[in-house]
Amino acid sequence: MCGIVGYVGCKQATPVLINTLKKLEYRGYDSAGIAVMNDDEILVRKAKGALRVLTEDITKEVVRLNDKMTGEECDAREAELIAATDKFVKGTIGIGHTRWATHGEPSDINAHPHTNVSGTIAIVHNGIIENYAKLKEQLQAQGIVFKSQTDTEVIAHLVNFFYEQTNDIFEAVKLALKKLEGSYALGVICKDYPDRIIAARKDSPLIVGLGKNENFIASDVPAVLEYTREVYYLDQKELAVVYSDHVDLFTEDGEKIIKEPSHIEWDMAAAKKGGYAHFMLKEIYEQPKALKDTLHPHLVFNGDKAVDIKFDEMDFSSIFENVDRIIITACGTAYHAGVAARYIFEQLTRVPVVVDVASEFRYKNPIISNKDVVIIISQSGETADTLAALRLAKEAGAKVIAITNVVGSTVSREADRVIYTLAGPEIAVASTKAYTTQLMCLYLLALKMAAARNTVSQKDFEYYLEQLELIPDQVEQILKDQSNTQKFASENFNKNKVFYIGRLIDSASSLESALKLKEVSYMHSEAFAAGELKHGPIALIDKETLVVALATQKALYEKINSNVQEVKTRGASTLVICQGDEQVFVKGESADTIIKIPQIEDIFAAITAIIPAQLFAYYCSVLRGIDPDKPKNLAKSVTVE
Ligand code: M6R
Repeated sequence: MCGIVGYVGCKQATPVLINTLKKLEYRGYDSAGIAVMNDDEILVRKAKGALRVLTEDITKEVVRLNDKMTGEECDAREAELIAATDKFVKGTIGIGHTRWATHGEPSDINAHPHTNVSGTIAIVHNGIIENYAKLKEQLQAQGIVFKSQTDTEVIAHLVNFFYEQTNDIFEAVKLALKKLEGSYALGVICKDYPDRIIAARKDSPLIVGLGKNENFIASDVPAVLEYTREVYYLDQKELAVVYSDHVDLFTEDGEKIIKEPSHIEWDMAAAKKGGYAHFMLKEIYEQPKALKDTLHPHLVFNGDKAVDIKFDEMDFSSIFENVDRIIITACGTAYHAGVAARYIFEQLTRVPVVVDVASEFRYKNPIISNKDVVIIISQSGETADTLAALRLAKEAGAKVIAITNVVGSTVSREADRVIYTLAGPEIAVASTKAYTTQLMCLYLLALKMAAARNTVSQKDFEYYLEQLELIPDQVEQILKDQSNTQKFASENFNKNKVFYIGRLIDSASSLESALKLKEVSYMHSEAFAAGELKHGPIALIDKETLVVALATQKALYEKINSNVQEVKTRGASTLVICQGDEQVFVKGESADTIIKIPQIEDIFAAITAIIPAQLFAYYCSVLRGIDPDKPKNLAKSVTVE
């Protein structure tokens, strides 16, 4: 949700904090703030709006200073500014935050950092403090006056409360944490400890970046990549005391922990736009490589023919042999990958599959047994609802396999087995390459399970592997020849209603296509299993409606063509996305426009079918003047419930 950064070193902290915050803007962008420490005070600057507003505020101060205001009335102010900015610019330790509001509207006051009353302790926080109202009441009863409506301010006053008792900032943070219910990633600085940042986490990610004579904290790796690729992933309830020359790690009870830092494989280039107008477009174009990177390490070759699938040293055989049922749970786009996977697993393995949104899972008293395999899908590996589902499944004795993009994420650490999507960092809020690589992992897992259970012959198995190998190049081909999608977007970006329809696995692609469009273009879009149209939704069809039919299942071409005809008759504009060989759809009859994707075995068409839909969403967003990388009300990683 929100983004946290912190710096302690020998450089000026302000530019480093702004620079690192820029890399985290995708996590929240309704307000931002920094707190920088000089020897004798903590200076806080915060502003509603994008990080740019905060940067401009700080720059204006420096510019005013440089312009040397004249006139008597300015003299006093100038002296004040000189003093403030001088310190501000000098400080070499600080914390910063970019916010996605949960408690309290986006405003200057509610922006982080928050401080205790005397301004000697400053705090940035991600997550939600569930018992904040009760704690606030107790603190108010002691005469503390709150400035903001946030849950975070409670932590600042609580730390202060314990600091007054212990006179030790680490102890104070530790004791304050014991009082908190809910989730947190925290960065704390204290005027009396001008050489350190205290950091802590529970149910919200936080890393410590290790530099040379400088160290960092951040809620996500891209923030620090420009400075270091060595990081500590803080585990649940761990604390870190971060100095410029070393870092101490502790358990929640203050016992020292020794652990090895992790080396980040991807570099800065992966976290930059690299010439593309937006991260979303860059990530759409990265899919051929991401798919290859995800697929190839798992293939076992005999000569140049893929004959088997391996998942490193992980042994899945015990899991595959004794499975009665597969449960897949995830949120948003990852959930849609799960919906597609239901068709893939049931067709290939003949094991029944249940798919649930993770945000509902723990509340429905789910039926889980130790013969169930639970597949958890999460790009970030930190989604609060998905994590809760994972923990519930483990408690119930199920085997948990996670598919995630982030090495070291909480999901990856808590699952029994992990398969990584090797997509590189996904920065755009709208998920694209994570979705297609998740599908790739699901295809691999389903095939491996099918082979173990003898539900596909070795001949078919090898043929299916060949099909999988075709996909990255097919995606490349679609991306090379996407001018028709761009043109179609330019003709339809002002439509008020967009319906995506499809049958079987295409209905999963429809769900994902509709989500992509609504997220980045704000066009009202819905998805229906095509056969359901006439049971209700067709009442909404008129000439303002665009209907996109995803039609990759050959046996059902005629059926879906009838559905397209039904909506065409009622005035809708229509687009059909289908396989290259089909002859059923006739341009100008049922379909106004046809986009053909390369020929593939039906069950493997989910990856290629989504590419035109991703591009359509992207172009509609841009044509409507929206920044697709920062859609309103959304943030990249949803670490709160
Ligand atoms: O990190 P996760 O895959 O767990 O995230 C799940 C959803 O929040 C995410 O897919 C969301 O729906 C994206 N904005 C979709 O583009």
